[in-house]
Amino acid sequence: MSASDFFRVAAHTKTSTQLSGLPSRGLAIVAQYFQYDRFLTLLQKQRYQTCFDVYGNNTIEWSSAQKERYASFVDQLKKTMASHGQFGLIQMEGNSALYPDQYRIYSEIAKLDLVRTVCETGFNAGHSALMWLNGKPNTVLYSFDIAKHSYVMPMVRVMKSLFPGRLHFTPGDSTESLPHFIKKNPHVNCDLVVIDGGHSGIVPKLDFENLKKMVIPGSLHMLLIDDLPSSNSVIKNMWNEKLRSKEAEDLFHCQRMGQEKYGKGFTIGKFLFYR
Ligand SMILES: C[S@@+](CC[C@H](N)C(=O)[O-])C[C@H]1O[C@@H](n2cnc3c(N)ncnc32)[C@H](O)[C@@H]1O
Repeated sequence: MSASDFFRVAAHTKTSTQLSGLPSRGLAIVAQYFQYDRFLTLLQKQRYQTCFDVYGNNTIEWSSAQKERYASFVDQLKKTMASHGQFGLIQMEGNSALYPDQYRIYSEIAKLDLVRTVCETGFNAGHSALMWLNGKPNTVLYSFDIAKHSYVMPMVRVMKSLFPGRLHFTPGDSTESLPHFIKKNPHVNCDLVVIDGGHSGIVPKLDFENLKKMVIPGSLHMLLIDDLPSSNSVIKNMWNEKLRSKEAEDLFHCQRMGQEKYGKGFTIGKFLFYR
C-alpha cells in the first residue's frame, strides 16, 4: 500500500476531502485503510519461507460461537460426504483447509473491517466460504462454482443454514455465470475477491477480468489468488501477464509449509485501474 493508494481511497470517499469534519463513512474508510495497512505490513515484514512463518502457529483465534459454527460445518460435511460417496470415501477436491498455515491467514483476512462483500470463484465443499462468513457477523459472500461434484449443492444448503441470508451462490461455469451475474447485479461491489475456481484454460484469466468489474475502481480492496505461486503454468502465466500489463499488483505471497518443494502457496494483490 502506497501513499498514492491512500489518496485514491480518500478521493473515492467523495466526502472525505471536506475538511469541515469528516463524515462517519469517510472516517470508517480511513480506519479501514490503516487497519489493512497494518495487516499488510505484518505480512510483508520479513522474507517468510512459508505461510506458517507469518503467525508461527496455526491456532485460529475465534470466539466459542465461531468455533461451534466451524464444528457444525465439519460435522455436516462428514455426513454429506458419507451420504454422497461410498461409505464416505468420495474423493474431495483440494481445499484451503488442507493447509492450516494458509487457513490461519484466511481467518485474519476475514476479520478485517474492509472485508464485507466477498466474491469468490470455487466453492467446492465450502472450506474457504466458511472462513469468509465466520470471520464477522455481517460479511456476505457471492460464490460461483460449476457444482460438478455431488457434494457441492448439499454443502451450499448447509452453509446457507449456518449463515442465513449471507451466502449468494451461483452455479455454473464462471466464464458464463459471472458476466450474466454482473449484468443482472451491477450494484454488487466486492472488497475481497478470491480466484480459486477453474485452474485451466481461459478460466483463471476470465475470472480475473470479470471479477475486476465487480470492484469499484480505486476502492480499498484485496485480491486473493489461490495456488499461486504454483507449478500450474496457467495461473502463473495469467498472473505474470496481469502484472506486466499493470492490471494488478502483487503485495504478498507465501508458500505452504510442506509444499515448499513444489513452490505452492497463495498470493494477495490488488487490481490496478489507472494506467
Ligand atoms: C480448488 S476448488 C475450491 C476450493 C475452495 N475455494 C476452498 O478453498 O475450500 C475449485 C472449485 O472450482 C470448481 N470449478 C472448476 N472449474 C470451474 C468453472 N469453470 N467455473 C466455476 N467453478 C469451477 C471446481 O469444481 C471446484 O469445486
